[in-house]
Amino acid sequence: MNESYDTVFITGASRGLGLALSELFLEQGHRVFAGYLSSATGLSDLQERYGERLCAVKIDVSDPASVRAAVTEVKRHTDTLDLLVNNAGVHLEGERVPFEQLDFGDGHLEATMAVNAFGLLRVTQAFLELLEVGAYKRIVNITSEAGSIGACTRDREFAYCMSKSAANMATKLLHNNLSPRGFTVLAVHPGWIQTDMGGPAADLTPVEAAADVVSVITGDAADYESIYFDHTGAAWPW
Ligand SMILES: NC(=O)c1ccc[n+]([C@@H]2O[C@H](COP(=O)([O-])OP(=O)(O)OC[C@H]3O[C@@H](n4cnc5c(N)ncnc54)[C@H](OP(=O)(O)O)[C@@H]3O)[C@@H](O)[C@H]2O)c1
Repeated sequence: MNESYDTVFITGASRGLGLALSELFLEQGHRVFAGYLSSATGLSDLQERYGERLCAVKIDVSDPASVRAAVTEVKRHTDTLDLLVNNAGVHLEGERVPFEQLDFGDGHLEATMAVNAFGLLRVTQAFLELLEVGAYKRIVNITSEAGSIGACTRDREFAYCMSKSAANMATKLLHNNLSPRGFTVLAVHPGWIQTDMGGPAADLTPVEAAADVVSVITGDAADYESIYFDHTGAAWPW
């Protein structure tokens, strides 16, 4: 049974939930590889406070060459990873237009899938060899309640919702594939969070959401009855 972890890789860690998760893991004494896309500036305060325990790694989860380069960079510092948090995500439907106005020509559908759905697969595959030799063997996909088909009440946000449903399916497929090899693979809805994506009216601060998420994703592997749940630990219908 997997009992402890030391080294964590988090994608999309430059701001929002990923940044708050990085800070919490560092506070708890773990070593964090924090993936950033456009800039590592958001990580500079943590870098000053935690020095070598934090390693900022450039990674675009939608770009195979960038993901390969990130693996090479991480391997310069460690030969094992315990926990991968696939957190990077985009919501490109600012105006949440009705179905009749869904634009198939602006590329937002494909771009959303490339990050939210295929990104976690690409990153998981690339880092699998490091995770396989880790003690903890845990992969956590930050999906969303928006990916639940069973609980869906929305009538738009096609790209985001469909990408998160695909991320949920990826979680189940990875669970089926990797749990016989000792892995725990989880899909987590982190709550509605006050980030650039969630907006200021959201329920939770990033710090609150990160605390909830860390407590539910670091449970004893044998105790997970469901592998898709929210930040309180409540199971969600697929
Ligand atoms: N906020 C909510 O209420 C909420 C609710 C449910 C689920 N979630 C999920 O929680 C996760 C984190 O959301 P958040 O609210 O923290 O979002 P956010 O504040 O918008 O931050 C998104 C992060 O993802 C990174 N990112 C975007 N595209 C990327 C790519 N191609 N490759 C690598 N990194 C990329 C961003 O990097 P840059 O800074 O470089 O752009 C940023 O660090 C997402 O998966 C989101 O879908 C959020």
